[in-house]
Amino acid sequence: MTRFTFSTPNRARGIAVEVGRGVSQSVGAVARRVRPAARRAFVVTDTNVAPLHADEVAARLSAAGFATAVHPIPAGEPNKTPKTLVSVVRAMVRAGLSRRDLVVAVGGGVVGDVAGLAAALFMRGVVWIGVPTTLLAQVDASVGGKTAVDLPEGKNLLGAFWVPDHVLVDPDRLGTLPDEAWLCGRAEMVKHGLLFDPAHLADLRGLLGSPGERDFDRLAPLIARQVELKLSCIQPDLFESNPGRGGRALLNLGHTVGHAIETLSGHRMQHGRAVALGIVAAARVSERRGIAPPGFESRVRALLGDVGLPLGLDEALAAHGDRALREVLSSDKKRQDHTIPYIALRDFGRPEVLSLAPDEIVDLLRQGPPAR
Ligand SMILES: NC(=O)c1ccc[n+]([C@@H]2O[C@H](COP(=O)([O-])OP(=O)(O)OC[C@H]3O[C@@H](n4cnc5c(N)ncnc54)[C@H](O)[C@@H]3O)[C@@H](O)[C@H]2O)c1
Repeated sequence: MTRFTFSTPNRARGIAVEVGRGVSQSVGAVARRVRPAARRAFVVTDTNVAPLHADEVAARLSAAGFATAVHPIPAGEPNKTPKTLVSVVRAMVRAGLSRRDLVVAVGGGVVGDVAGLAAALFMRGVVWIGVPTTLLAQVDASVGGKTAVDLPEGKNLLGAFWVPDHVLVDPDRLGTLPDEAWLCGRAEMVKHGLLFDPAHLADLRGLLGSPGERDFDRLAPLIARQVELKLSCIQPDLFESNPGRGGRALLNLGHTVGHAIETLSGHRMQHGRAVALGIVAAARVSERRGIAPPGFESRVRALLGDVGLPLGLDEALAAHGDRALREVLSSDKKRQDHTIPYIALRDFGRPEVLSLAPDEIVDLLRQGPPAR
């Protein structure tokens, strides 16, 4: 088991993330340690994860002496809404939860985002614990305290920073994960490797997308390294205070164009697929602007191909006109006046923040892959 701790400005106690096979079995003891005087635990999960994992987690909390309620929200991104959020908070009231009690999120990134925001808002804030059950949530969403729901105007527009007191990252929870969810997690793992650690990228290349990926003894140390990389990025910039200067904003690599493609597809394209295409886009922008060396897009494509991620950026863009693409890029929530802080790469492990107008991004992408 690997244990990381980090601090936040408004909490006396450090926040712990434990990574290892079986760590989520200790959820009862952890919850007791985090909240010694609590009477109730409120488990937020989704309709898929409830029978697979959350009911068992709830039984462990009951065994540790908590009066435990389980609240499954409907599964999937379309349900990450204010309506679901309010339903969770109202269920907390009905369950008799008080400020000294705790919330436990058992599920993927959608559950973590909704449960964390509900914890932030219920009675102005209760403590929560995360038990992430998707690869994406284990390496990314559960770490760092960003919580949110979507609005019709855009993703994650209603949210708060509300850091969980403890996160139990247990690869054994991934045994039931569908293939598509594996792909989404891989895209974020490659993103972390590209940003921060070329040597780790080589390890990812050797395992992700191969049958060995589901050997949890081999996967666990890679997940632990991912958590470490994310924590070291966010610790100095927990509240993403200055997107123009890097820090936490670097984690948006692949997400500017990725979100645009996701939106233009009417959210029919899965987030992880769109992020993979967004990473190809970032490689192209980097090479076409002369920041990265010649051949960079093709190196990034080879990497993504090796781990089974999609590469069809031009096909995805061909379905939409320049104007539609420009408009959706212009509505990016990180826009500052007329430009967007765009995360580019000088090379593997060497990120750079550019300030680009949506027009420039569209022009660079439309130039197609650089000739080799
Ligand atoms: N807060 C953050 O910092 C942060 C970071 C990255 C992504 N996110 C958010 O995370 C969300 C995506 O998360 P996700 O990819 O985990 O999606 P998700 O939560 O929708 O989970 C994907 C699917 O897998 C199912 N599932 C989850 N765990 C399972 C398991 N162990 N076995 C079987 N099925 C399981 C879910 O029911 C769902 O159908 C997005 O809303 C994104 O905005 C948040």
